[in-house]
Amino acid sequence: MNVVVVDTYKEIGEKAADIFVAQLLMKPNSILGLATGSTPLSLYEALIQRYKDGKIDFSQVTSFNLDEYVGLAPDHEQSYRYFMEKNLFEHINIDKNKTYVPDGLVKDADAFGKAYDQQIKDMGYIDLQILGIGANGHIGFNEPDKIFTYATHKVDLAETTIKANSRFFDSIDDVPKQAISMGIGTIMKSKKIILMATGEAKAQAIRDAIYTDPAPEHPASILQFHQNVTVIVDKEAASLL
Ligand code: GLP
Repeated sequence: MNVVVVDTYKEIGEKAADIFVAQLLMKPNSILGLATGSTPLSLYEALIQRYKDGKIDFSQVTSFNLDEYVGLAPDHEQSYRYFMEKNLFEHINIDKNKTYVPDGLVKDADAFGKAYDQQIKDMGYIDLQILGIGANGHIGFNEPDKIFTYATHKVDLAETTIKANSRFFDSIDDVPKQAISMGIGTIMKSKKIILMATGEAKAQAIRDAIYTDPAPEHPASILQFHQNVTVIVDKEAASLL
């Protein structure tokens, strides 16, 4: 794992954006794996700026998002599809028909997960995957568990995740209890991975991701087995390293 420690949240986004620019110069039709949450916002802001400055072109890109809440329609303000539209897709020249976010309203999650994974496989897997991390170590919505789940699947959200994400909803009761998440196997098939984290609340999760023996109780620790991971953190998130 390459670990890059920077001073500010904005710099995390700038460093990650540098890698995106290089990736799309090398392969303009890259398959990007995208994430939601507060952390990647600095990356998306940096990417929008670079697009405006003519430094990056998304016209040939395909994207797959990590996860979506079960029960939220794409136009729900807290759905991850809506998040992606507002925070990235509407501001760049990506072809909307080539942006994929799991369907939170799907009836048969198993069939959906198989088809999502197959589609990613058929395209040769993700070239560059961006990940945030939960304070409990989750990546996507792969919560701490007894096993690593390979495929895209429906998950029950951990109580701590529901509580953490309640900041975006009017009340904790409005937070969906389940999500569809890309599985650990599909994430690990990505050719390059960037893991981003900011703030002291993520320090233990980052320490576990990098140092603990890989185990499903610390989902991000699986990344130690990946050949090409760049961890970009600020000093607070790096404070236990
Ligand atoms: C969310 C997402 C994750 C994200 C994490 C941290 O629930 N499913 O993909 O990395 O939790 O979010 P944040 O960046 O807002 O701290």
